[in-house]
Amino acid sequence: MVYIPLDSSRESSVALLREGNTFISTRCERYDTDIFRARLMLEKTICLRGEAAARLFYDEERFTREGAAPGLLVKTLFGVGGVQGLDGEAHQVRKRMFLELMSDADIDELTRFAAEHWQQAIGGWQRQKQVTLHPAVQLIHFRAVCRWAGVPIDADEAETRCADQAAMIDGAGGIAIRHWQARRARKRSETWMAELVEQVRSNRIQVDEDRALFRVSWHRDAQGELLTPQVAAVEMLNLLRPTVAIARFVAFAALALHEHPTWYETLRDNDTWLEPFVQEVRRVYGFFPFLAARVRDDFEWNGYHFSKGRRVMLDLYGTNRDPRSWERPEAFRPERFEQESINAYNFLPQGGGDHAVNHRCPGEWFTIALMKEAVRQLTRHMTYSVPPQDLSVDWSRLPIIPESRFIIESVRPVIPA
Ligand code: HEM
Repeated sequence: MVYIPLDSSRESSVALLREGNTFISTRCERYDTDIFRARLMLEKTICLRGEAAARLFYDEERFTREGAAPGLLVKTLFGVGGVQGLDGEAHQVRKRMFLELMSDADIDELTRFAAEHWQQAIGGWQRQKQVTLHPAVQLIHFRAVCRWAGVPIDADEAETRCADQAAMIDGAGGIAIRHWQARRARKRSETWMAELVEQVRSNRIQVDEDRALFRVSWHRDAQGELLTPQVAAVEMLNLLRPTVAIARFVAFAALALHEHPTWYETLRDNDTWLEPFVQEVRRVYGFFPFLAARVRDDFEWNGYHFSKGRRVMLDLYGTNRDPRSWERPEAFRPERFEQESINAYNFLPQGGGDHAVNHRCPGEWFTIALMKEAVRQLTRHMTYSVPPQDLSVDWSRLPIIPESRFIIESVRPVIPA
């Protein structure tokens, strides 16, 4: 049996909170390894990094997600009873529901709705001295996804409900105030959504049968039972909240356009580079740094022993910038997506493996489409300037965000020729 290096601290949670995204990578470098043991959140944990480790982590025979996510995340980001914590057939049935909601027609429609909300927003921004892009795009995405999902919402309510989605995302890696704000936001959001599910079921509101609200409300689990209104609410929020979260990637896309003006020029009239550009934004600015699972039964891998029940954490941050997979990983180079060998285990901005079999994010196509639309809007449908502000990114913060949330001014709409 090969020895797994042990992190020197008796309890490494404080270091994890202090260092944030770089916690696993720093130790992998320090111990010259892709695997080490640490005590995290009062529990013995094996931390893993790199493509080979990701292939292991996504082996469903060896790992389960049941009871793996830290309680702090379940109470803020995930919610109780959602797809993230399911396994086996229960997971497959629930996951199919999500994947069936992500057809090409759904992607096109959501993107079209987002484009319309961008246009309305840009019209208003020209009358404002400054606009803070991150919260503004959160609202654009929230309005678009509610419309796509069939969630009835008026303008005033949209702002407060959107703020709750934003609080769940921002509070997921936080402690103290950020954490408690996220918990309260989840409670309010679940109550709102569970009530809508009950209204759909009792025909008190009419929703088109193709809409996500209808389909989630009437979804049946592996035993043929309807979800409880609370679990249906959690799954509805699994559609709304992450679509709002895409605004974070949009803020980073705006930052990348600002820091790499040649890309701004290229993307203004060139669709070919849109996808490599947004992929590179997802790689460099991935804001979901780690995943957790538990060992199903004792096994050995490369001579290392994994004992039943042990929690394992995979380093998404470190794998997305592992020099064995990526040339000059610290550089922002969209062209790498044309040149380098990228696969479902070395590029993990939203998890890896197979969308249908594993827990890999079913929202990747929505994410890429909405990011591309945002870059189109920023480069082709408006002009703006970027005033002096703090654009630094604190990599110890979970989740990352440009410090100023990206402020723009002198916004002018551009009517495409
Ligand atoms: C799962 C990140 C957008 C819905 C995940 C996972 C990550 C992730 C890291 C876990 C993968 C794993 O456990 O292996 C992100 C990021 C997003 C995003 C960074 C962009 C901001 C979306 C969107 C949706 C979505 C737009 C839906 C509209 C889900 C669901 C799961 C998931 C339902 C659970 C899947 C499962 O457990 O099988 N996401 N996601 N996400 N995501 Fe996303």
